Amino acid sequence: MTSSIQIICPSNPQEVPFQHLTEMLLAAFAAQDGIVNPPSSAKSVTVSELQWRFARDRLFLATDEVGTVVGQVWVEDTGRDAYLYKLSVDTAIQRGGIGRALVTAACEDAAVRGKEKMRLHVRVELTDNVAYFKSRGFEIVGEGMHDGYDRATFWKMARDLDRMSGS
Ligand SMILES: CC(C)(COP(=O)(O)OP(=O)(O)OC[C@H]1O[C@@H](n2cnc3c(N)ncnc32)[C@H](O)[C@@H]1OP(=O)(O)O)[C@@H](O)C(=O)NCCC(=O)NCCS
Repeated sequence: MTSSIQIICPSNPQEVPFQHLTEMLLAAFAAQDGIVNPPSSAKSVTVSELQWRFARDRLFLATDEVGTVVGQVWVEDTGRDAYLYKLSVDTAIQRGGIGRALVTAACEDAAVRGKEKMRLHVRVELTDNVAYFKSRGFEIVGEGMHDGYDRATFWKMARDLDRMSGS
């Protein structure tokens, strides 16, 4: 990752470019069109959805040298653990370490706040993403299915936060 990328955790909604974040989600998850079933919830994201999520959850943003947001990840406090979702990076600069930096920042923050595990869900079709999160210290701990389906549609993955080295 270039040293000019910064990870921030805004507390003021005025600092958050919600429209830009919805557009980034739509673009980043477009690659999953026709692959995941049911379609990703990121496909129907709206500014108002992100606004209420911001009021409830923690948001980490990656910004470039001129302050443009190039990546995002959201973290819900689920009590003993934390839940990471909507990880996405600008499609023009993926695979440059920004996703890694966002996951690391989210996990470090959750560890500082005393959370035992970081959890997330990955669609079963996205074997590359499963491999990606395994490389980030997550392991499959279960499976789940969306309403109306009679097969597993997503893996549940988790990472212990008491071992933050090698993140
Ligand atoms: C998945 C995502 C967040 C990763 O962020 P990124 O900044 O592109 O990836 P990073 O630079 O952190 O990746 C680091 C490593 O993972 C690899 N990698 C990244 N995405 C990968 C993928 N989809 N499949 C396989 N390997 C991947 C990179 O090649 C790199 O490997 P290396 O360090 O051995 O060279 C990003 O590609 C994205 O926005 N994807 C679309 C949305 C999505 O799928 N989100 C996750 C939903 S579960």
